[in-house]
Amino acid sequence: MKTPLSSSSSSSSYIIRKARLSPYLFTLLAFIVFVAILYGEDFICILGQLDPLSSDTRPISTTKKNREKLPFAIGKTGIEEEGCDVFSGRWVRDVSNRPLYEESECPYIQPQLTCQEHGRPERDYQFWRWQPHGCDLPSFNATLMLETLRGKRMMFVGDSLNRGQFVSMVCLLHRLIPEHEKSMETFDSLTVFTAKEYNATIEFYWAPFLLESNSDNAVIHRISDRIVRKGSINKHGKYWKGVDILVFNTYLWWMTGIKMKILKGSFDDEEKEIVELPTEDAYRMAMKSMLRWVKLNMDRKKTRVFFTSMSPSHGKSIDWGGEPGQNCYNETTLIEDTNYWGSDCRRGIMKVIGEVFRGSKVPITFLNITQLSNYRKDAHTSIYKKQWNPLTPEQEANPVTYADCVHWCMPGLQDTWNELLFTKLFYP
Ligand SMILES: *[C@@H]1O[C@H](CO)[C@@H](O)[C@H](O)[C@H]1NC(C)=O
Ligand SMILES: *[C@@H]1O[C@H](CO)[C@@H](O)[C@H](O)[C@H]1NC(C)=O
Ligand SMILES: *[C@@H]1O[C@H](CO)[C@@H](O)[C@H](O)[C@H]1NC(C)=O
Ligand SMILES: *[C@@H]1O[C@H](CO)[C@@H](O)[C@H](O)[C@H]1NC(C)=O
Repeated sequence: MKTPLSSSSSSSSYIIRKARLSPYLFTLLAFIVFVAILYGEDFICILGQLDPLSSDTRPISTTKKNREKLPFAIGKTGIEEEGCDVFSGRWVRDVSNRPLYEESECPYIQPQLTCQEHGRPERDYQFWRWQPHGCDLPSFNATLMLETLRGKRMMFVGDSLNRGQFVSMVCLLHRLIPEHEKSMETFDSLTVFTAKEYNATIEFYWAPFLLESNSDNAVIHRISDRIVRKGSINKHGKYWKGVDILVFNTYLWWMTGIKMKILKGSFDDEEKEIVELPTEDAYRMAMKSMLRWVKLNMDRKKTRVFFTSMSPSHGKSIDWGGEPGQNCYNETTLIEDTNYWGSDCRRGIMKVIGEVFRGSKVPITFLNITQLSNYRKDAHTSIYKKQWNPLTPEQEANPVTYADCVHWCMPGLQDTWNELLFTKLFYP
């Protein structure tokens, strides 16, 4: 991955620009052309790698490569076989079939996500359905999902956004389970929803970096000055063993700036050896650790692993042509520009995800929810959530200052993520 040829687009265009100016580089270019003629086809491959778009536009399909039937797949031909990228599509207003459950009917939604209870004046955000361009999504069949989980464990591992997806999954299923036959319990980093009659669990494990970090306390996580320990995935991974369906995410906590602090030894060392890596390199290291862990610990004949891409924030309204100084607060409509990509959403990270998965044979199903969520500036919790600290008069006077443009109201967008998970689980 670290070969000079796969360097970024900026450095390759730099070389070409210089070549016009310098005779030395002109000679070099002539030599490259000569080599290109000698090794025609290889050179086309190399050019392909240099083109940043070529690695960005092809959707990853780790599942397509191996022809054998994936665990939990139903039937032989799947949606992907028909050439449908379920992550490419548009939002359709669907008042008769959405939402898939009511906020008041799911007691497991944390008070940070119950927007109606906290005074959101409208609920337009609940009535959207994702419509892929090339096919229809199968409807979410809660009976099928729950029967599939009989005697099994499903676990979401990652940060608060993945916790949201976990809660959404529980909300989608819990109606089928009578009151006294289900429970939700938390043990430190692990939250477990149990469907007793089914002997099934749906779990969430807090590990915002997947690797060990100084933000691992599930309740009190230090926000600034984050440090991640290299090679430490087993610290958390030992709690993921034996899971049948695993869903990872990690993104937001890496966004501290352009560099990330990486600890080489242990957090107990008196003198800590800490290096600063560019965020993309640090993230790549974590992704590779995850793949290695999956390879060593998951049985590809019986289990499935998913990875959910970056959840976008909507903290700057100028991104979508709004008034300067505003954010997701008071937003009730979708972004219609199909090419919209928010400035908080780091393309470099998406590129790393693409490269790491493409270079890997470990079967992980990629849930590319970033673009479809990018359109949903209306779907955040904004100010309609439980506030942990009382608001100051200044805040009350200006709601934009305390609107949460990271997390999502429930029911809402994250139910769609689970519809996509459902689709990829049964119809890969
Ligand atoms: C949902 O799945 C169950 C169990 O596989 C099946 O019996 C039922 O027909 C499905 N429902 C629909 C609407 O497809
Ligand atoms: C319940 O499920 C677990 C896996 O989560 C399994 O190990 C155990 O054997 C199951 N128990 C029964 C009684 O089916
Ligand atoms: C919210 O947006 C509407 C227009 O969509 C506008 O009329 C209203 O003044 C805004 N409210 C606040 C408090 O900014
Ligand atoms: C995810 O989808 C977006 C938009 O369709 C695309 O730009 C991006 O490259 C995809 N990511 C990967 C890793 O395939």
